Amino acid sequence: MSKITAFGTYVPERIIDNHYFEKIIDTNDEWILSRTGVKTRRFSKEGEFTSDMSVKAVKDLQKNSGADISDIDFIIACTTSPDQPMPNVASRVQYKLGIQNTGCNDVYAACAGFVYGLQLAHGLVTAGINKKVLIIGAETLSKITDFEDRTSCILFGDAAGAALVEPSEEEHFIAFNSGTNGSFGQDLYLSHKKNSINGVEMRCNSKIVQNGKSIFKWAVGNIPIKIKELVEKAGLTLDDIDYIVPHSANLRIIEAIAKSLDYPLKKMPESITEFGNTSSASIPLAIAKSRKNGGIKSGDIILMMGFGGGLTFAGAIIKWSL
Ligand code: COA
Repeated sequence: MSKITAFGTYVPERIIDNHYFEKIIDTNDEWILSRTGVKTRRFSKEGEFTSDMSVKAVKDLQKNSGADISDIDFIIACTTSPDQPMPNVASRVQYKLGIQNTGCNDVYAACAGFVYGLQLAHGLVTAGINKKVLIIGAETLSKITDFEDRTSCILFGDAAGAALVEPSEEEHFIAFNSGTNGSFGQDLYLSHKKNSINGVEMRCNSKIVQNGKSIFKWAVGNIPIKIKELVEKAGLTLDDIDYIVPHSANLRIIEAIAKSLDYPLKKMPESITEFGNTSSASIPLAIAKSRKNGGIKSGDIILMMGFGGGLTFAGAIIKWSL
C-alpha cells in the first residue's frame, strides 16, 4: 500500500501575457482568451532547463513537508522537453540534488506523464522494489514552441511539479487506467530527425506541431468516457469524487468535459488560465492552486486524468493524503 507523502511545484518568474503575442504573430488577447482560456503563462530563462525547474519543485516539496530527500531510491521524471535527449532529466536531478543511491528514469508520455509517473511509483512501492519514489512532471515548452505557428504558440507555458510516494498502512491509490490511440500520432508531435517517419510526412523543426482541432475533438469525445470507466472500475460514482483534475490543455476542453459528465466545473481545478498548458506539470499546478485556495484537502477523493501526445491518456483515483 502507498500514498503521496510530500508535494511541491515551481513556476519560473517571467510572466507572459497575451499582448506579448500581438507583437510577434497576427492575434489578439480576446481571441486567445475566448478560444483557450489562457490569460498568462510563465517562460523559463534562456539558461533555465527542465532539470533546474524540477530541482526547484523538489525544494518546494521539502519546504512544504520537511521531507528528507537523501534516501529517495527512485526518480521518475515525466517530461516532453528534457534538457537534452541524453542524459535523462532524472539523472540531472539526481546529480543536482546529490541523491546518492537512486534509480533514474524518464517517462515520455507528454501531458499524461505525471499520472503515468504516479502509477509506476505506486507499482514500485507496493511491489516492495522501492521505498521512496520521487515523481516529477516538468516542462520547458517555451524552448520547443514554434513561435511562428499562431495556432499553437499561444497555448504553452513552463512549470514543474514534484511528489513523493512511499509505503503506507492504508491504501490511498484507489484505481488507475491508461491507454493510447497511436493513429493520432501525426496530430501532435515533435520531430528532429527526418521529414518523413514511418512513411508519414513531418515538419522536422524540433518544435511542437499540432492539429488543434483534431486533438480538441479527440479529447472532448474520449476523456469523459475514460473518466466514467475509471470511476466504475473503482466501484464509485461521480458523486463520490470530490474533485476531477483533468490535464489543463484548454479551458474549453475542461468545460466540455464538465458538461459531458454533468459534473460541476467548480470541482474541476485547473491551471490553464494562469499558467497556460504546461503538459506534465499542469495537474500538479492545478492541485497546488486548489489547495492554496482552500479546495483539495486531506481525505478528499480526487480523480486525475492526463492526456496528450500519443494520443495517450492516464487516469488515477486517489485519496489525497496531505
Ligand atoms: N489568433 C487569431 N486567430 C487565430 C489564431 C490566433 N492565435 N490561431 C488560429 N486563428 C484563426 C484560424 O486561422 C481560423 O481562422 P479562419 O476561420 O479564418 O480559417 C480561426 O482562428 C479558427 O481556427 P481554429 O484552428 O478552428 O481554432 P480553434 O477554435 O480550434 O482553436 C486551438 C485552436 C489550438 C486553441 C484549439 O484547437 C485547441 O486548443 N486544441 C487543443 C490543443 C491542445 O490541447 N493541445 C495540447 C494537447 S495536450
